[in-house]
Amino acid sequence: MKPVEIKDSVYWVGVIDWNIRDFHGYSTPAGTTYNAYLVMDDKITLFDTVKKPFKRALLENIRALIDPRKIDYVVVNHVEMDHSGSIPEVLDEIQPEKVFCSAMGKNALLEHYHREDWPYEVVESGQTLSLGKKTVQFLETRMLHWPDSMFSYLQEDQLLISSDGFGQHWATSERFDDEVNLEILMHHASKYYANILLLYSPLVQKLLGTVQEAGLKIDMIAPDHGLIWRSSPEKILQAYDAWSRQKAQRKAVVFYDTMWESTEKMAEAIGDGLRQEGVQYRLCNLKVTHRSDVMTEILDAGAVLVGSSTLNNGMMPGVADMLCYMKGLRPANKVAGAFGSYGWSGEAVKLVTAALEEMKMEIAEPGLRVKFAPTHEDLQGCVEWGKKIARKLGNG
Ligand code: FEO
Repeated sequence: MKPVEIKDSVYWVGVIDWNIRDFHGYSTPAGTTYNAYLVMDDKITLFDTVKKPFKRALLENIRALIDPRKIDYVVVNHVEMDHSGSIPEVLDEIQPEKVFCSAMGKNALLEHYHREDWPYEVVESGQTLSLGKKTVQFLETRMLHWPDSMFSYLQEDQLLISSDGFGQHWATSERFDDEVNLEILMHHASKYYANILLLYSPLVQKLLGTVQEAGLKIDMIAPDHGLIWRSSPEKILQAYDAWSRQKAQRKAVVFYDTMWESTEKMAEAIGDGLRQEGVQYRLCNLKVTHRSDVMTEILDAGAVLVGSSTLNNGMMPGVADMLCYMKGLRPANKVAGAFGSYGWSGEAVKLVTAALEEMKMEIAEPGLRVKFAPTHEDLQGCVEWGKKIARKLGNG
């Protein structure tokens, strides 16, 4: 795709990955983009590169504007390989005067590519760099989501180049938020937050405070994945504020795996109970719902209810996978509970409850078990269990 001018003399020169469907365990049914930005100033500067297989496309995009060897500076906001995989070949071609990165970024570049010969220039938060007419202000964002991560702010343009922050995995021919359906865009942004940034929510809160204190005026946010926030930067900033506060809504996510549909029947009856008490719920059968989509639903839910049949004295493998994934992302402010059908030993509910407690979730009700197939009375018990949990949820 040809470069797109996003601000005066600032160009998107990234690439679109239409085909990726799995991003280290996060499902990406709509693909993604790896965004890079070229600033044409006295010092021509490239912000970020792209994943290794796309290096030729990046260089072609740059060539549509200028000979890559005329680039003076390269800024590496983040070293994860979706943004730096092409950097050895790209730097060999460009031969820049300087490569700007954080101190952690320099370490990470050395640990990935083992190139001592690159002209590293370490920068830190608050430091500025004049490109000629434009000034870059660096803002380290450690652990958002890697130790090396930083943002670059173009002061005159009020443009925040935000690395992974505010990104979305969505491959589109459009480049700006106002060119696509905003509701779909926000869904992709929330999925990104829930699956990449949720565990760093306290740091997101701190960063938003720092941006406010520094009085940074933000007219546009250009992330390294997905659409650029041209018309509604305040909308994504507000959403990040809400998501990072992890304020629970009157919503429950019921995820489960089932052997012979008994646990599924329990899940449906629990859903009925939740609804009767005015709680919105989502049923997620883990055989057909990807862990990253379940996580997206959990983002604003107040209750997480987990169902598992007992299999070989343990829980179902799909439930174990989901619990492991969820634990890493550290959702907060949730009440929780476990349920499931069993045949003779019935350990799953106890094991799931222990896993939820380990995640510091508040167990709203003791685990609920049903032997083999649930009777009408058993299902009534599930409805009541759902109602009791609903009553533990605040008003959202
Ligand atoms: Fe898009 Fe952390 O890489």
